[in-house]
Amino acid sequence: MTSSDRRPSGRTLVRGRVLTFKRRPHGAGDSAAYSYFEDGIVVAEGGRVVDVVDGGEMSRVAGEGAILHDFSGKLILPGFIDTHIHFPQTQVIASYGEQLLEWLTKYTFPAESRYGDPAFAGVQARFFIDELLRNGTTTAVCYGSVHKGSAEALLAESERRGTAMFVGKTAMDRNAPPDVLDTAQSAHDDTATLIAAWHGRGRQKVVITPRFAITSTPEQLEALGSLARDHPDCLIQTHLSENLEEIATVRRLFPERADYLDVYEHYGLVGPKSLMGHAIHLTPREIQRMSESGTVAVFCPTSNLFIGSGLFDYKGLEGGTHPVRIALATDIGGGTSYSMLATAAEAYKVMQLRGQKLSAIEAFHLMTRGNAEALGEPDLGRIAPGAHADLVVLDSAATPAMAHRLAAGSGDLEEELFVLMTLGSDRNVHEVFVGGRPQGLGKAVS
Ligand code: GUN
Ligand code: ZN
Repeated sequence: MTSSDRRPSGRTLVRGRVLTFKRRPHGAGDSAAYSYFEDGIVVAEGGRVVDVVDGGEMSRVAGEGAILHDFSGKLILPGFIDTHIHFPQTQVIASYGEQLLEWLTKYTFPAESRYGDPAFAGVQARFFIDELLRNGTTTAVCYGSVHKGSAEALLAESERRGTAMFVGKTAMDRNAPPDVLDTAQSAHDDTATLIAAWHGRGRQKVVITPRFAITSTPEQLEALGSLARDHPDCLIQTHLSENLEEIATVRRLFPERADYLDVYEHYGLVGPKSLMGHAIHLTPREIQRMSESGTVAVFCPTSNLFIGSGLFDYKGLEGGTHPVRIALATDIGGGTSYSMLATAAEAYKVMQLRGQKLSAIEAFHLMTRGNAEALGEPDLGRIAPGAHADLVVLDSAATPAMAHRLAAGSGDLEEELFVLMTLGSDRNVHEVFVGGRPQGLGKAVS
């Protein structure tokens, strides 16, 4: 057995401290929510997990020709899932000094216009997936640019790498420069073409993606709502109530609608397949309708702090009279880190500012199984027979500061996870497996 063989479908054994969630934890200390093997072996075959056993059972599961990847002492989790990220914004990150609407006009739309060139989009797609994997993220729900070719470039690159990506061509037919505009008809037709070619092809899926109510005409929202009715298994993604000026603009553009959510609901874009980015400044009516319809609120903490949008009410939405489903995401390039660990750290701080607590196990559940459930993907985000063998191997002591902090710790798993989410980054990602195949990250990257 060697650790360098990259054959796809033989039996692969990944040994280490295996952690996976069974259900959503109810706060710190809820150890019944997860399974943890201090010395575990994930057994994968044909891209899927076939078994998870104790290290003592090595000889039983090894078999002829099995390949062992021994990460004893390191943590093995399901690969992270990012539920909201903009593929054409990798060079928008760290753009100075503006809030949402000015930030879009000054930085984002010009950057996205470059993705009309398929060769450029192809090069960027390689960088994008490299960067996700370096951060332990094996699945992401992605906005492309307005150009169909940008979504195609990303889907093709994801297929080549074996990752599961959810990708939409962003629809926008007003209130932006001409080189990033489509029409109601072309947005419908391009998205339909993408669905026919890519939705469910291998591990790739297509997402119906109106950017937000400000950049879509009623005709475009109508066309995409009709497409969503034709393809009820497609996710829908958009932005909702991120910024106060944005909300006031939506009210001016759609005076006949009760509120921002009602714009989307009127056109059939609200429901259990709908991912609403940000959802910060919600009215009680919107919260109730999100709850009743099973719509997901996507918490993007680094972005909300960086663009100065506001403080997401996590516990208010999760535990209110009308509980709302919640997912966690980076929102690159309003967001400032590709790392779901760093994203969880900022989520914790946003919640502290609201007098709320985010325990480490709630955060790690969100990054894995919680986000998979938000996508309606039971075979992602968990390590159990039948699930895809997408794994991240984490070295909690990868930096001197983290090793130093952990040396003074109690050795408790939840404390280690809290250190990981508070101080963690790509440097803690020791290796990543996609469909049972190691991606060759080797030692922690710096
Ligand atoms: N609202 C509409 N488009 C965007 C975007 O690209 N980023 C963020 N953060 N909000 C948006
Ligand atoms: Zn976004």
